[in-house]
Amino acid sequence: MSTTTPQLQVSDVKVHFPVRGGAFGRVRGAVKAVDGVSFDVLRGETLGLVGESGCGKSTLGRAVLRLVEPTAGTLRFDGQDLTGLSPRQLRPLRQRMQFVFQDPYASLNPRLTVREILEEPFAIHGLARGPGERAREVEALLDAMGLPREALERRPHEFSGGQRQRIGIARALALRPDLVVADEPISALDVSVQAQIVNLLVDLQRERGLTYIFIAHDLNIVEYVSTRVAVMYLGRIVELAPSAALYRQPRHPYTQALLSAVPVAEPGHRRTRLLVPGEPPSPLAPPPGCTFHPRCPHAMERCRREAPPSYPLGGGHFAACFLAEPDAREAPSDAAPGGRTGVLAQPPSPG
Ligand SMILES: Nc1ncnc2c1ncn2[C@@H]1O[C@H](COP(=O)(O)OP(=O)(O)OP(=O)(O)O)[C@@H](O)[C@H]1O
Ligand SMILES: [Mg+2]
Repeated sequence: MSTTTPQLQVSDVKVHFPVRGGAFGRVRGAVKAVDGVSFDVLRGETLGLVGESGCGKSTLGRAVLRLVEPTAGTLRFDGQDLTGLSPRQLRPLRQRMQFVFQDPYASLNPRLTVREILEEPFAIHGLARGPGERAREVEALLDAMGLPREALERRPHEFSGGQRQRIGIARALALRPDLVVADEPISALDVSVQAQIVNLLVDLQRERGLTYIFIAHDLNIVEYVSTRVAVMYLGRIVELAPSAALYRQPRHPYTQALLSAVPVAEPGHRRTRLLVPGEPPSPLAPPPGCTFHPRCPHAMERCRREAPPSYPLGGGHFAACFLAEPDAREAPSDAAPGGRTGVLAQPPSPG
């Protein structure tokens, strides 16, 4: 594929989880965890994904790697349509897309040694090279993660959280993927080691030309690592922009609220409170119109009825808010409903 093809193209992807109930387990409704999301991720960039708990970040991250099946929409990896591929057809592509989990405690098999953990991906993908070559690969991987060779014969519980996450990252990178979805890779770690892991990810990206989707709660870290940032609310992307623009001039009231969130003192927890009323509504029954309107300080009559499209604001900045609507005289209907919240500064083309 040409270098201008985005690494990943996500078009109107939905992930709805059926909710069953009653004696016959009939489908009663759906949790609209991801509800029509479109964006591109360019080679070598980091797309940050932020939003409150439950807005669908992890589900979206899993859907792009087909760890959960999208209900609708299309995914293109390196220009290739992933929709409808069988598990067998997906397998060679899976090597090239990997997931780094939040919790290295839960994601590493405690019974295996580090050597076994790192050799496993080669075996799963039928890349069982000769034992000598595989051992050399595993050792090189360990070096790249800044872990000592002695680590190979030990098991996950013998390591600290930060080291365990290094092992998790090593496993994800074993098969030299192109795309890595890192879902809160540092939020389970001590603050003192968070920066080390972030810097490791940044260094590995530079050395290996990796493309990242970086999911996080901590907006400071997202700003630090991301080329562009997408803000999710209730299963949708409400704003997407180059990192600097998003932090300097957030255009969606929800992003503004997120950025002005204040820390809340709670023993043992680092939490923040948004300066907007209420909690996000349930994705089982999202409000009509703009789903943010019940909490929005700027809500207008129109917001209760109509869902705003994603308006291009120039410079790759998009916001799904009527306040961002360009003056009709200057730019006649640039925005297409469900339009691609992509990298292009021009109006998106349909499809
Ligand atoms: N397997 C599932 N079955 C039913 N509902 C699910 C499932 N997985 C997630 N959900 C629901 O989908 C919504 C989005 O969840 P998701 O975990 O993607 O959010 P998130 O943004 O990653 O949250 P957090 O920041 O807490 O990790 C939530 O309402 C969640 O309860
Ligand atoms: Mg999550």
